[in-house]
Amino acid sequence: MTTTGLSVTRLTPVLGAEIHGVHLDTIDESGLRQVHDALIAHQVIFFRDQDISVESQMRLGAHFGELVAHPNDPGLEGHPEVMIIHADESSKRVAGESWHSDVSCDSEPPLGSILRIHTLPETGGDTLFASMYAAFDALSATMQAFLEGLTATHDGAPYYRSVNARIGRDDGGRTYPHATHPVVRTHPESGRKALFVNRMFTTQIEGLSRRESDALLAFLFEHIEQPQFQVRFRWAKDSIAFWDNRCVQHQAIWDYWPETRSGYRVTIKGDRPV
Ligand code: SIN
Repeated sequence: MTTTGLSVTRLTPVLGAEIHGVHLDTIDESGLRQVHDALIAHQVIFFRDQDISVESQMRLGAHFGELVAHPNDPGLEGHPEVMIIHADESSKRVAGESWHSDVSCDSEPPLGSILRIHTLPETGGDTLFASMYAAFDALSATMQAFLEGLTATHDGAPYYRSVNARIGRDDGGRTYPHATHPVVRTHPESGRKALFVNRMFTTQIEGLSRRESDALLAFLFEHIEQPQFQVRFRWAKDSIAFWDNRCVQHQAIWDYWPETRSGYRVTIKGDRPV
């Protein structure tokens, strides 16, 4: 199937849209342009019934930029840039259980991620996405101006080491990315401002005392996680979510143990936040 006009159904006033009328295996250049435009407009986009191969998913991701391997996940054998998202009865944790923007501890954090889920529990296993544009826009002008002058440290080590301790993976001798990013970033394509701190990786607002930083981050994390900034995606077999990490945070809900949920994620390299 080639594409002429995709149909786009918005899911909330602030973010999220379902895209119909395209199969991602055979999408043409015009379709890819429309997918790109929908991603920029809606921040996270969803597709249904996409029984595509991992190679096809990689090709789709590569259209938007270089694919990157995860700093704490070995990935699919032979394809380190493909992350296996999997939980079952024996799991001690799942990927993405607290709010985050993927690998924001990198100096050039991912532009976006594309996740296909092929195996689902009977119910549950939804993913929440939140608009960091909406979270920024909802702040007072005074708070916005204060935050716009700030930078923060994003450190991968505390989170990744805690994951490794939970699953019994030896990470001795490993180092993890850490970076300094603006607390408010300007999206390179939309030009909109987005909050860019998250519970998983942001450890310190620079130039503030530890107490001041902890208090401000606690406020921002709680602010960002309000339901009016969110869309909740209910997966079906072979649904795909494509999110823009520059303006969206997400959280995976692990409410289905001991059932199984599985899929593949590809992650697209981004640039340095400004
Ligand atoms: C993640 O990429 O953070 C996991 C998302 C999910 O499993 O829904």
